[in-house]
Amino acid sequence: MSGSMSSYAVEIAGVSVRFRTKKRDVTALHDVTMHVEPGEFIAIVGPSGCGKSTLLKLASGLLAPSAGHVRLQGEDVTGARKDVGYVFQKAALLEWRTARKNILLQAEMRHMPARQARERTDELIAMTGLTGFEDAYPHELSGGMQQRVALCRALLHRPPVLLMDEPFGALDALTREQMNVELRRIWQETGTTVLLVTHSISEAVYLADRVVMITARPGTVAGTVDIELPAERDYGRTMSAPEFTDATRRIREHLGAAQAEVVGD
Ligand SMILES: Nc1ncnc2c1ncn2[C@@H]1O[C@H](COP(=O)(O)OP(=O)(O)O)[C@@H](O)[C@H]1O
Ligand SMILES: [Mg+2]
Repeated sequence: MSGSMSSYAVEIAGVSVRFRTKKRDVTALHDVTMHVEPGEFIAIVGPSGCGKSTLLKLASGLLAPSAGHVRLQGEDVTGARKDVGYVFQKAALLEWRTARKNILLQAEMRHMPARQARERTDELIAMTGLTGFEDAYPHELSGGMQQRVALCRALLHRPPVLLMDEPFGALDALTREQMNVELRRIWQETGTTVLLVTHSISEAVYLADRVVMITARPGTVAGTVDIELPAERDYGRTMSAPEFTDATRRIREHLGAAQAEVVGD
């Protein structure tokens, strides 16, 4: 099968990942296939250690599969890709740099033209509600604010694909809800494809077009749930919408009672 004609943003085909160390031989993923359309918002849920982070590393080229193919934007992934943005649970900001300078780090690493980088930074600061905090240092920012900075940094070069690995896992519940609402709006404004790994089923359903469920190790795709919610998702109304409760119930059932404990909110 040739990947040159693929129109998927991310294509993972028959992928297995095996980690071999002196002590262990771990099959993290086994025969995983998933396709992500350009502009889609995909949430990936599953128990700890099932290979979720490994999936994102594959998509970005940070890790090569032991078997199968990975394509990004229709091209085989053969090494670390520059056309992705990455957000982790920890904002990983440089303490001695202001919010703005932390965002601009991305531009420096990519040798982006200075003016273009400045203008994009201004846009992103406004889009993520960081206006007024541009010159604050990380220790002066709340956890939510720090994640906004990390998100701006990840979006600076307008990546067609944004990879998010439990980005809100360290935030308190209310901040997390607020970040969910904002992420959804930012996704709609940027049109970027998103792959979000989360432990929260409600976060997955609120945000995504589709939720992909991964089983415990070795990780395989247990199923996919299409989210039938409208594009405009008021948070409160969505939480009580029948489509929302139906989807969360189906995901819990799929993942099974034992695992629902691990991935429950
Ligand atoms: N570099 C590595 N070397 C050895 N084992 C690894 C490595 N990275 C991940 N693993 C193992 O692969 C499995 C999946 O890891 P990971 O993708 O981080 O899971 P998740 O993100 O779903 O919690 C785990 O059992 C983990 O211990
Ligand atoms: Mg992980």
